[in-house]
Amino acid sequence: MEAKKSKITVHNVAKSFRSADGKTVDALKDISFEVQDAFSREGRDIGELRVLLGPSGCGKSTLLRLIAGLDRPDAGEILVNDQPVHGAGKDRGMVFQKYTSFPWLTVTDNIAYGLKINGVSKEKSKEIVAQLIQAVGLSGFENAYPETLSGGMQQRVAIARTLAVRPAVILMDEPFGALDAQTRGEMQQLLLRIWDETASTILFVTHDVEEAIYLADRIFIMSAHPGTIVEDLQVPFERPRNLELKQLNEFHELQSYVLGRLRRAPGNGQVRVSI
Ligand SMILES: Nc1ncnc2c1ncn2[C@@H]1O[C@H](COP(=O)(O)OP(=O)(O)O)[C@@H](O)[C@H]1O
Ligand SMILES: [Mg+2]
Repeated sequence: MEAKKSKITVHNVAKSFRSADGKTVDALKDISFEVQDAFSREGRDIGELRVLLGPSGCGKSTLLRLIAGLDRPDAGEILVNDQPVHGAGKDRGMVFQKYTSFPWLTVTDNIAYGLKINGVSKEKSKEIVAQLIQAVGLSGFENAYPETLSGGMQQRVAIARTLAVRPAVILMDEPFGALDAQTRGEMQQLLLRIWDETASTILFVTHDVEEAIYLADRIFIMSAHPGTIVEDLQVPFERPRNLELKQLNEFHELQSYVLGRLRRAPGNGQVRVSI
């Protein structure tokens, strides 16, 4: 096996904000971690699915925005593919909780948008979009406009749009947070399948304990005020996983452990245990 390759490096990062009443909020303090790719025996590059879990207000979105290059840290350093982050870039794709497709473009044109910007030929773009529409289960909706679709389907469009340009790192900020429980489960499974096929590095943010355990290889458990990582937890369940995993005792035991860990951490934001 080859040496591991660093995809995301976050080193001693800090970020504060001034709140409306003039107080300083330490959104992130002294955050350091690394997400590496592994290589399969055949030399295939396999990205990790890493989850950042913590109560609301612990700095998860702030951290993703810094890695995406949408904002700058006050201190510390962030590298993606060993290159310092100095702004947004094609090597990083982001999926937000709010559906962010262009309302004036059809599903097809939304997914093709980034390819067009990148100068990909029409024929190649058509091929990629057709594959993605199939992969995310949007067949039959090629010419629909996003606002005519359900939340889950709009999020499929957003995921396909992000995947189309093949970013090295995909950043997902509570992408299934606004969906009902059943759709959320379906989307989690879809994500695992796509991740298995693309082997992309995914950094997935959630405050849902069950979602974190179901998806992750490793979970960073965060606490709030100041936002710090309190534990790096290895998730022991084998892959491929399916939704029945959530019914197992071992799953529930790990869920209780994580909840206890969150409760002992400073900060009093909300976490959710979905059932
Ligand atoms: N632009 C901003 N201005 C002022 N305070 C902010 C800003 N962005 C985030 N914060 C504060 O930083 C902390 C972390 O916020 P955020 O990263 O959104 O947390 P999370 O995504 O975990 O809910 C919160 O206390 C929030 O109020
Ligand atoms: Mg957030």
